[in-house]
Amino acid sequence: MKKRKLGMSDLEVAPIGMGCWAYGGGEYWGEQSQRDVNEVVSRALDLGINLFDTAEMYNNGASEESLGLALKGRRHEAVICSKISPSNAYAKTIRKHCEASLKRLGTDYLDVYMLHWPINEISVKHFTDDPDIIASPPTVQEAFGALMDLQREGKIRYIGISNFGVKQMDEARATGAQIVVNELPYNILSRAIEKDIVPYCIKHGIGIIASMALQQGLLAGIYNSPDDVPPYQAHSRHFKHERGAGTSRHGGEGAEEEVFQTVRALQEIAHDLGVHIAQLSIAWILAKPGIRCALVGSRNIKELESNVKAGMLELDNEIIGRIDRISEPILMKLGYNPDYYESPENSRIE
Ligand SMILES: NC(=O)c1ccc[n+]([C@@H]2O[C@H](COP(=O)([O-])OP(=O)(O)OC[C@H]3O[C@@H](n4cnc5c(N)ncnc54)[C@H](OP(=O)(O)O)[C@@H]3O)[C@@H](O)[C@H]2O)c1
Repeated sequence: MKKRKLGMSDLEVAPIGMGCWAYGGGEYWGEQSQRDVNEVVSRALDLGINLFDTAEMYNNGASEESLGLALKGRRHEAVICSKISPSNAYAKTIRKHCEASLKRLGTDYLDVYMLHWPINEISVKHFTDDPDIIASPPTVQEAFGALMDLQREGKIRYIGISNFGVKQMDEARATGAQIVVNELPYNILSRAIEKDIVPYCIKHGIGIIASMALQQGLLAGIYNSPDDVPPYQAHSRHFKHERGAGTSRHGGEGAEEEVFQTVRALQEIAHDLGVHIAQLSIAWILAKPGIRCALVGSRNIKELESNVKAGMLELDNEIIGRIDRISEPILMKLGYNPDYYESPENSRIE
């Protein structure tokens, strides 16, 4: 697999990255054995996959801890990306949180440290119930100022952002921080970033890391109908609001029919090409402009060994155009709000 440069950094990463959200196990993804994590991380490194994406928020630190255990003795082969929650991004708290992440990961530096979400009332509320933090969240200037301090001290090599829109990227760059990557939801069923965010990132040399490459399993073909999808995975705007067991926040009607029609059409294309729908879906992302890496939650060796083949799959323009047309009705219905969990009025991404 040919490596790609992450934005204006000197980091070279394989185009398929390891999404480590499930590591450590937890309510959202259910049980995840350390044995599977050890095996999958070690096999990934053997296969040349080097980017590992985690966050302090994933399973309350257990994801970082689990990844740290699995990388023991091979940390130098990995590019570790972790994320600070916006509610912890005060100048006075960020260092403590970064050091806690380093400790859990068993390392003394992070390759990329990202601000997990832009700082605004709705996003902060998602990370904390503390009324003082919600009333007076960190400022953009102090968060990026503190990240630049950590960078000068060598605790982090590069600064990244996640889920930032154009206005928010302007604000972040105005602090003087050099932003190397923006991690955003991007896949065949979630194409909102194509309109404004991708062109902006390309113009300013910000590499895009595509998260949720398989739209949490939908593009792996593991569900035959909306009724099959577990409540957490049905929280996104692809599904009608009622579907997420009363905890969806978007209030919309979803695009269930369009989504499953698209998945069925993709299954046919994948069948004709003799590949798995997950491989087709990952290869489509990697063919798109601005994308440096697609994050996949490969949770065991079997999934990893199948998914990694997408790195060798080159789709021709006819197939890419067909997939674009097939998925267009979803884009039309869900619109260009890149926040797939909140209504356009409450979008955390501006
Ligand atoms: N920055 C952010 O705000 C943000 C947000 C979301 C995600 N992310 C990152 O993106 C990563 C990837 O997203 P994700 O983990 O949410 O979801 P994902 O990668 O889109 O999908 C994971 C799901 O796909 C299934 N799967 C994977 N490969 C498969 C295969 N070959 N065959 C069958 N099923 C397969 C897994 O099934 P099983 O469960 O059955 O194993 C799992 O349910 C995360 O781990 C995280 O690092 C970042």
